[in-house]
Amino acid sequence: MQVPFYDIQAQYKDLATEIDSVVHEVISSGNYVLGNHNRLFEEEFARLHQVKHAIAVHSGTDALRIMMDAAGITHGDEVITTAFTFVASVETIVQTGARPVFVDIDPATFMMDPEKIEAAITPKTKAILPIHLFGQLFDVMMIGEIARKHNLVILEDAAQAIESTHSGKPAGHFGISAGFSFYVTKNLGAAGDGGMITTNDDETNERCRSIRVHGMGRERYYYDHLGYTGRLDEIQAAVLRVKMTKLGDWGKRKIEIANAYLKAFEGIDGLTLPITSPGNNHTFHQFTVKSAKRDELQAHLKEQGVPSMIYYPVPIHHHKPYLEFAPSWNLNATEEVSKQVLSLPIHPHLTDEQVHHVIGSVQSFF
Ligand SMILES: Cc1ncc(COP(=O)(O)O)c(C=O)c1O
Repeated sequence: MQVPFYDIQAQYKDLATEIDSVVHEVISSGNYVLGNHNRLFEEEFARLHQVKHAIAVHSGTDALRIMMDAAGITHGDEVITTAFTFVASVETIVQTGARPVFVDIDPATFMMDPEKIEAAITPKTKAILPIHLFGQLFDVMMIGEIARKHNLVILEDAAQAIESTHSGKPAGHFGISAGFSFYVTKNLGAAGDGGMITTNDDETNERCRSIRVHGMGRERYYYDHLGYTGRLDEIQAAVLRVKMTKLGDWGKRKIEIANAYLKAFEGIDGLTLPITSPGNNHTFHQFTVKSAKRDELQAHLKEQGVPSMIYYPVPIHHHKPYLEFAPSWNLNATEEVSKQVLSLPIHPHLTDEQVHHVIGSVQSFF
């Protein structure tokens, strides 16, 4: 049996009639830029995440970049983040001219260790950019407290945290703004690229909307900020609105699969299972285990027809463009975790048979 790691075509098949219809509607309407679907998608996403404003943008990366510009992050500033993430979290900091300052992660949750933040704060620190990784939220309470104490802005990288909550509050409630991604393989994936910024702050909303269109003010061809072509395509907004109707069902199925894995793998010696932090609702964007024999486990699974992914094999500060940002302190947990993590297939279209095959293949290794 060959298990697919993702199944994007199956998602399309679930909604083919509706998707074909809206794509045709947009193409034939000629309204390709910031049309009705964009406006409605922003309203629907804001409702889903219980926030005042949602600003649709071209990608999760653009969301982060625009959020940082809106928060005034610039040359000479420092932004505290982690090196165990997708590169966009850090790339966008560097692009503003600010310096990314890496603190270590909690090896159990894979996310920023709040205990490590205060030692990294300097007079240049402007913001903290923690990442909600794999479908659950970072330690929003402790990181929030530290940010308040030191008068720092929190920018939430919520690319992997659509519908993830802490104490019932979704990502986007814990910082000045949050950036979501609709990259194809995300829990809500576009037919291409897409992203969203959410904020409860009116001024941030105004700035992000302006920066998204070249920094244009209320009057056409008058500019208040440096900006980008950062808009979400109307076709993507239309497709995402259709896919959002299935988010609940797809999310439930993922949790069912996660629970089946957690139950089946409980107590396996040499395998560490993902934990859900107290107060969090985990949406399992990824189901990520740890093992000292990760590479052997991955090879064994491959032989059984079970693909797996390593998110993320090399911490960001070891890559060429980021070498100069390696901190003077150690990032032991970051280093160790990147050698041990393995993400198993967990998409909503896995059949029960495929889930059992994944379970059996992991069990047979141990
Ligand atoms: C943690 C994280 N941040 C940022 C991004 C960037 O999003 P995008 O690929 O939509 O630009 C991604 C997704 O790919 C991500 O996983």
